[in-house]
Amino acid sequence: MSNFGLYEERIRDFKWSIAEKELEYSNGNILNIGWYCSDRICLKGKAEKIALYYEGFGGIKKTFTFNDIRIAGNTIGSFLRNLGIKDEDRVCLFMDRIPELYLSFLGVLKIGAIVQPLFSAFGEESLFVRLENAQTRAIITQSRHLSKVRMIRDRLPHLEFIIVVDHVVTKKLENKEIAFSLSDSPPVGNLEIFPTKAESPSVLHYTSGTTGQPKGVKHVHYSLISQYLTTKWVLDLQENDIYWCTADPGWVTGTSYGIIGPWSLGITQCVLDAGFSAHAWYRFIDDYQITVWYSAPTAIRSLMKAGDEVVAQYNLKSIRHLASVGEPLNSEAVLWSIKMFDKPFHDTFWQTETGCIMITNFPGMKVKPGSMGKTFPGITGTLLDPVTYEPIKETGKVGLIAFQPGWPSMMRSYWNNEEKYREKFKNGWYLSGDRSSIDAEGYFWFIGRDDDVINTGGHLVSPFEVESALLEHPAVAESAVVAKPDEINMEVVKAFITLKPGFNANPDLELEIMNFIRKKLSPLAMPQAVEFMDKLPKTRSGKIMRRLLHAKEWGEEIGDISTLEND
Ligand code: PRX
Repeated sequence: MSNFGLYEERIRDFKWSIAEKELEYSNGNILNIGWYCSDRICLKGKAEKIALYYEGFGGIKKTFTFNDIRIAGNTIGSFLRNLGIKDEDRVCLFMDRIPELYLSFLGVLKIGAIVQPLFSAFGEESLFVRLENAQTRAIITQSRHLSKVRMIRDRLPHLEFIIVVDHVVTKKLENKEIAFSLSDSPPVGNLEIFPTKAESPSVLHYTSGTTGQPKGVKHVHYSLISQYLTTKWVLDLQENDIYWCTADPGWVTGTSYGIIGPWSLGITQCVLDAGFSAHAWYRFIDDYQITVWYSAPTAIRSLMKAGDEVVAQYNLKSIRHLASVGEPLNSEAVLWSIKMFDKPFHDTFWQTETGCIMITNFPGMKVKPGSMGKTFPGITGTLLDPVTYEPIKETGKVGLIAFQPGWPSMMRSYWNNEEKYREKFKNGWYLSGDRSSIDAEGYFWFIGRDDDVINTGGHLVSPFEVESALLEHPAVAESAVVAKPDEINMEVVKAFITLKPGFNANPDLELEIMNFIRKKLSPLAMPQAVEFMDKLPKTRSGKIMRRLLHAKEWGEEIGDISTLEND
């Protein structure tokens, strides 16, 4: 049956209480995401249903039922509680995509503590600033990431516990370190769930801006309402689906739609923690007969590049629905997926701050390749004039994407940064920081970001963070970091550097500087190109004009340079 008109139907009389009703979400009940994602599903008679098919490096496979994840969450929660971790303490998850990452997420929430997921590829300095900012009390990690934690723990007075989930007894544990093995711990069948309220904090994700240190985006347990409903309606998950979200839970897609959405719906999901290759990904879809696949444009472009003949080697007929997030989904990628899978990738636009999908090509709606689609029911979105911050009335004119505040999973604050939080609102609208146009049918067409943040392969990189790391090198006098075009990642990081007197630009020095910052940054933030300059373009007041360097890289018009300093 064609579900043409479903979008209009959903919009009519929309209320978030639709999700509250389905979830039996009301005061007096347990309003805890950890409980919703495991205990409640078991109580609904799905205790033996598969919650997670996991596959790691070397083909290691593990399977967990909803009862398994319920008990594992309890066991981890109980262990943390026995250490003295209490509600609203920050517990960082710093792991690869191993089952403990997903299970700890539930365990931390179940005891009312705040989960702080961080991408395991972060270098020690990136890790340090985020743990320091959140005053994190415990970190759960793996042996292979321990050396990074050891390098910074003495500068983190609030960090009391470093929990290692795969410790081998032959290795010595040091100060603050504790071994915890899920398989060796007595399973905890029943755990007293902390009585979190709708507005109790749940997840703290860090995101990068143009200036200053990364900001901690605070979410609350009520976020479940919009994560549940958008998963159900946009990702179209149904009882027998086998779902694969390719995002890492170090980033918001991996928690909102890689844990909370599917598990609160009681859906079976798959996790592949074995890097990227076209063969490995198609083989994974084939092996598990995946039906719904949520991925990102960079991955899709890499698959396109690997060649259509690779697709033909696998049976991918199981795929029923495709969606994408994180960066502009070019029309070629949508047309390619129609050719290969007989279905378009449905674009979804949202942010760490929004917590859930805001703009999307809703299932059944006409997909216009290259457009992000329309606002999700219950979301009021518009474009604001960049000067007056008034809504733009004319069709097709470019403006700032803005949303009316109030949807359930909207961030509640930036951690300890009220000022930056307030800057996100103008005339009562929440500003996304992105630019777009809207056509006559209400479809959004993404133009670009409204700041200097670089989006490389779907990961936001703050130029400030990279520039700060560069400036710590003794040879670097000044630096400016901008995006450079890239065929696969859309954008990559490029650094412009001036040197201090006595240093000469040469390949050895470049290598030395790169090795120096590699330890501080995540691999994603590493410059893919470096250019030494005699001087950087600056305003008369001495501010480096990244805009000019950006325009040079993209072959764009330079625009107004009236503030450029003269020789
Ligand atoms: O610039 C937009 C881009 O990614 C930003 C949000 O990044 P982050 O907070 O890391 O969350 C990513 C996953 C939700 C946005 O401000 N972005 C996200 N989705 C799209 C997009 N750009 C174009 N098209 C999209 N569909």
